[in-house]
Amino acid sequence: MCGIIGYLGGREATPILMESLKRLEYRGYDSAGVAVLELPKAGEATRTSVTKSEAKVDTLIEKLEANMPSGRLGIGHTRWATHGKPTYINAHPHTDCHGKIFVVHNGIIENFAELKAELQAAGHEFPSDTDTEVVPHLIEANYKGDFLAAVRAALKRIRGAYALAMFSSDDPELLVGARLNAPLVVGLGDEEYYIASDITAIIPYTKRVLVLGEGEVAAITPLGAEVSTLDGVTVKPKIVHVDWDVAQAQKGGFPHFMLKEIHETPEAVANASRGRLSDDGVVSFREFDIPDEQLRGIKDVLLLGMGTSLHAAMIGEYVIEDWAGIPARAEDASEFRYRRPTVGDKTLDVVITQSGETADTLVALQQAKARGALTVAVTNVIASSAARDADGAIYLHAGPEIGVASTKTLLAHMVSLYLLALRIASVNGRVSLERRQELVEALRVLPDQVRGILARDKEIAKLADKYSRYRNFMYAGRGLGYPVALEGALKLKEISYAHAEGTSGGELKHGPIALLDDQFPVVAICTASSTKDKMVSNVHEIVARNAPVFALVTEGDRSLDGVATDLFVMPQVEDAMSAILNTVMLQLFAYHVAVKLGQNVDQPRNLAKSVTVE
Ligand code: G6P
Repeated sequence: MCGIIGYLGGREATPILMESLKRLEYRGYDSAGVAVLELPKAGEATRTSVTKSEAKVDTLIEKLEANMPSGRLGIGHTRWATHGKPTYINAHPHTDCHGKIFVVHNGIIENFAELKAELQAAGHEFPSDTDTEVVPHLIEANYKGDFLAAVRAALKRIRGAYALAMFSSDDPELLVGARLNAPLVVGLGDEEYYIASDITAIIPYTKRVLVLGEGEVAAITPLGAEVSTLDGVTVKPKIVHVDWDVAQAQKGGFPHFMLKEIHETPEAVANASRGRLSDDGVVSFREFDIPDEQLRGIKDVLLLGMGTSLHAAMIGEYVIEDWAGIPARAEDASEFRYRRPTVGDKTLDVVITQSGETADTLVALQQAKARGALTVAVTNVIASSAARDADGAIYLHAGPEIGVASTKTLLAHMVSLYLLALRIASVNGRVSLERRQELVEALRVLPDQVRGILARDKEIAKLADKYSRYRNFMYAGRGLGYPVALEGALKLKEISYAHAEGTSGGELKHGPIALLDDQFPVVAICTASSTKDKMVSNVHEIVARNAPVFALVTEGDRSLDGVATDLFVMPQVEDAMSAILNTVMLQLFAYHVAVKLGQNVDQPRNLAKSVTVE
C-alpha cells in the first residue's frame, strides 16, 4: 500500500515527484523519499541525489525545496511500513552496495529473509530492516552490464508481491517498472513517461495509461515504453484512456477529501446506474454482458469484500436474496481464502472492491474462479487487478476516492448491487414490471434525496458536536439497517478513534447490552422497514439501561418521540434507498465527530487506502 512514482522525460523530475507523492500520500504516509539522477556538470560523473524523510511527504518536500536536485530521471516513494519501523534508514529508495541502483517498492517480498542471508554471505551489506533492500542487492548480484537483464534475473528469484520503479546511474536513460500482485501503471505523456502505483498520481500529466500485467516489466527510455515478461518475451502493451479529471482528484474547496467525496455522492449514485437501466427497469451492464440463459443457470451468489466493501457485500446479500430469490452470502474475503467453501460452476462470485487491488479480495476471487464460479468485479478502478482477473467488471464510475475511509464508492457499490439484483431477479422472472418501474423511479430521485441529506450538514454537525464527548458507541439496526449500523460504527472508529461497534437489533440482548450505561450512547437505525417495530422495542430496552439514544426515524413516525434522546428525521423512501440515505448521514456524523476531536480524517492513523498485503 505504499505509493510509488517514477519519471523520465525532458522536464525537471523533482517537482513532478513531489506533486505525485502528495497525491499518492493516501496509500501510506509514515515516511517518504526520492532519488534523482542529477545532470552531470562538465567533467563530472553522474551522481544520484537521495532525499528522505522519516515523516510525511510534506517534510520531504521541505527538504527538497531547500535543496532541489536537478535531473530528468527520478523515483519516489511514500511508505506504509510492513517490515521495519518508519525510520529514515528504512525509508525508500533503497540502493545496492555501490549506490548505483535505486529501487522503490510496494508489496511484500515473502522470501526476503533467505535472499538476504544468501546475499550477506556473498558480502552484501544491508543497513535497513526492510524486505525491499534485497531487490537492489539482488540486481547488483545479477548485473553483467545489462540493467534490464539483471532486473529480470533478480525478479525471478522473488516470491510475494511487488510493484517496483528502478534505475541505475550507469543507464541514465532507462527507467524500469515491474509488478506482481501489486498495482502499477505506466503513464504515456508527450515524450515523457511516468510509473505510478495508481492513476491519481499522474492524471494531471497524462490520461494515456499503459496497464502492466502480472509479472511484466516495463523498460522506459526516451524512445518509449517496452513491455516484456521476466523471460524477456515482448508483450503487446494494453493502453487505456482514463476519463478522470484533475479537479476530481483535488479538494475543490472542501477542507478534507472525505467531505468532498461525501458531497460527490449524488453524482456517484447517478453514475452507477447511468446508461444501465431502461425506463422499464431492464438492466444491462456493458462490461458484464452475460447472456440471460447463463445468468438463469446461477443457483447462488457469493459476495466477497473487506472493510467497507464487506458491508456493501452484506447489503448485496440482503437484496439479491430478497429480490432475486436465490441464496446469497457475503463473506470476509480474508476468511474465505483459507476455507474449503462450497463454490461451483453454478455460483456467481461478486467481488466488491473500490480499488480493485485489495490483496485478500484478489486471492479470494482467484480461488472462486478456480472452483468454476462465474466472477464479476464491482470496482471503481478501470483495468485494476480485480477487473482484469474477473470474468467481467462492473465499474462504479464514481471518480477517484482519495480519503482513506471509503465513502462515495460504498454508495455507488450499493446502487450497482441493486442493479445486479434487479438483473438476476428479471431473468428469473421474480420481479414485475410495476416493481421494476418503482425501482427506476426510486433511483431517479435518489441523487436529489442524497442532496437533501447533505444540505442538513449543520444539523448533523450539531449532533456530532454533542456526541463527540463520548468514547464508546453502539450502532444497532435490523435488515439492511444491520450492515448500515456496522458501517456507521466502522466509519466512526476509523476516523475518530472512538470505540464503536455495530450489532443487529436482535443480537443486542445477547451480550452487547451489558456494556450500556449513561456514558455509552446507541445510534439506532429505526427508519421505516418491515422490522422497524422490533427496533423501536430495542430502543425501549436501551433507554431502560440509561444509555443515550440517537435514532434515525422516518418522517411522520412518532413512535420514538420522547423516548430517544435525539431524533434525526429521514424522508420516506423505499427500503433500499433508505439504506443509502442513512449511510450518508452516518458518514457525515462520523466526519464531524472526527473533525471536532481534531483528527486527521483523510489519513487516519495506522490505516491505508488500499491494503495490498495480506
Ligand atoms: C481499506 C480502506 C477501506 C476499504 C478497504 C477495502 O481498509 O481503508 O476504506 O473499505 O480497504 O478496500 P477496497 O478497495 O477493496 O474496497
